[in-house]
This record gives sequence, structure tokens and C-alpha cells, in this order.
Amino acid sequence: MSNAVYPGSFDPFTNGHLDITQRGAAIFDELLVAVLLNDSKNAMFSVEERVTMAREATVHLPNVKVLSFDGLLVDFMRKERSRVILRGLRALSDFEYEFQLAQMNKQLAPEMETFFMVTDAKYSYLSSRGVKEVFGFGGAIHEFVPPGVFRRMRERVRPRGM
Ligand code: PNS
Repeated sequence: MSNAVYPGSFDPFTNGHLDITQRGAAIFDELLVAVLLNDSKNAMFSVEERVTMAREATVHLPNVKVLSFDGLLVDFMRKERSRVILRGLRALSDFEYEFQLAQMNKQLAPEMETFFMVTDAKYSYLSSRGVKEVFGFGGAIHEFVPPGVFRRMRERVRPRGM
């Protein structure tokens, strides 16, 4: 049985993340969306909120599970008995960062492989950071995120300039 881990900050989970999750779930028997508990990144949502939102958005995908993780990704993957890291690539500008991540993970755990999935062109501009920025300045974000994320963002007092 094939499985893969799709790790990220997912702050918040966007339609681009959903697209990669859906396509990954169609390739692997099981896909585990792994939400990083990152204190350093000044997250808009708590890790619990990010997990809940990703779960809501992927509830229609029976072979997708959403969990949080802390520490090294490769340690989490060993615990979850997975050897494949799935990452989305939007543009060439993503490549350097992704290449470094993949190489670092390879050094740490040579048995792991990183698979890149090219983002659908209609999401190539989309990032969690961009969504937060547009939201922060009062722009419409409903096209960029799943309905549950949209609802939660609207429930928030708008964070000025975020
Ligand atoms: O959505 P992001 O923030 O680009 O995802 C980055 C992520 C979570 C995949 C990466 O930061 C990560 O795996 N962090 C866990 C710590 C780790 O394993 N670091 C070693 C590779 S540099």
C-alpha cells in the first residue's frame, strides 16, 4: 500500500493546497496532511485551527488524514511509516527553497523521497501569505480558500496590514 505525507504550515489551507491534496489522494492509497506546529512563524491560526480547517476541507476524501507535527519532518514520517514527501511547486521561484528542503531531508533520512507536484495553473499565484495580506487589507478572499477557512477568517477581527 502506498502512502505519502504532504507537510506544510497551512496557515491557512488554501484552494491550492486542496488541489494538491486531491490529486495526491488520487495517486497514493493514503495521504497524510501534516500541519507544522511552528512557533517561530507568527501564525495567524493555532495549529488546532489549521488542522480543523484542513480536515473540513478534505472531509470528502476518505483516504486523507490530517495531523499536526512538531520537530523534524523525517522523524514524524518514520513514526507514521511513510517514505514519500509530497510538495506542490508553483513556480521556478519555489524551486530553490524546495530543493534545499528536499536535500536536507535526504541528508537526514536517505530512505525518504520528495515528490513534487506542479500546481494547477489557476492556483499558481496563490499562497497562504498572499491570502492573509489580501484579507488584511479588506480584499475578497472567498475564491482563494475553502468555505470553512473563509468563514473562520471572516469571524476574525480583520488584522490590519497582515
Ligand atoms: O508550508 P511551508 O511553511 O513551506 O512548509 C515547510 C515545512 C513544514 C515542510 C518545513 O518547514 C518542515 O518540514 N519543517 C519541519 C522541520 C524540519 O524537518 N526541518 C528540516 C528540513 S529544513
